[in-house]
Amino acid sequence: MAITAVTVMVILECAAAAEQLHKVGSRGWIPDYNYTDWLNQRHEHFYVGDWLLFVFDKHSYNVLEVNETNYESCNDQGFIKNITRGGRDVVQLTEARPYYFLSSGGYCWGGMKVAINVEDLAPAPAPASTKNVSPPNILSRQMIVLIAFCVAMAWFVLFL
Ligand SMILES: *[C@@H]1O[C@H](CO)[C@@H](O)[C@H](O)[C@H]1NC(C)=O
Ligand SMILES: *[C@@H]1O[C@H](CO)[C@@H](O)[C@H](O)[C@H]1NC(C)=O
Ligand SMILES: *[C@@H]1O[C@H](CO)[C@@H](O)[C@H](O)[C@H]1NC(C)=O
Repeated sequence: MAITAVTVMVILECAAAAEQLHKVGSRGWIPDYNYTDWLNQRHEHFYVGDWLLFVFDKHSYNVLEVNETNYESCNDQGFIKNITRGGRDVVQLTEARPYYFLSSGGYCWGGMKVAINVEDLAPAPAPASTKNVSPPNILSRQMIVLIAFCVAMAWFVLFL
């Protein structure tokens, strides 16, 4: 019992420290897809320090960070940041604010745009309420590796 509790706590602490990598869209960054619906279905949270991964065909599409006005009007002029590199591109969400991304080339009109609201990282859960903590709703590969490492550490510490 005690061993399990300690292990769970170590895992939770490790998991809380992890930055998450969120892949945008269930099929990547594609045209004629409603990213607002995608977000609404997932109830996913985005925290400061997390990363977005855009997977797309760089010959047809791109990823530009824009402001809210230009997001609403699908205007790619005067964008804030060009995320486009090789077609598997990441961007870190460094501030608690809404972020807006779109693809130029007219694809924004068909839905190729996404608004991500970034929150401050939630405070670490108190040990007493550990059993009420729901598991993270996204397990990125990064995080699985990290959790595996944390479990290994916990076992090592407990049975040394
Ligand atoms: C958004 O960006 C455009 C282009 O840089 C600029 O003209 C516009 O004033 C900006 N809007 C806001 C609300 O910052
Ligand atoms: C964004 O960056 C990529 C790679 O550096 C470049 O090929 C592309 O032309 C840029 N797009 C815009 C709109 O500046
Ligand atoms: C996505 O769907 C919502 C309704 O679920 C709608 O309000 C919105 O305009 C759609 N977005 C696009 C880009 O079609």
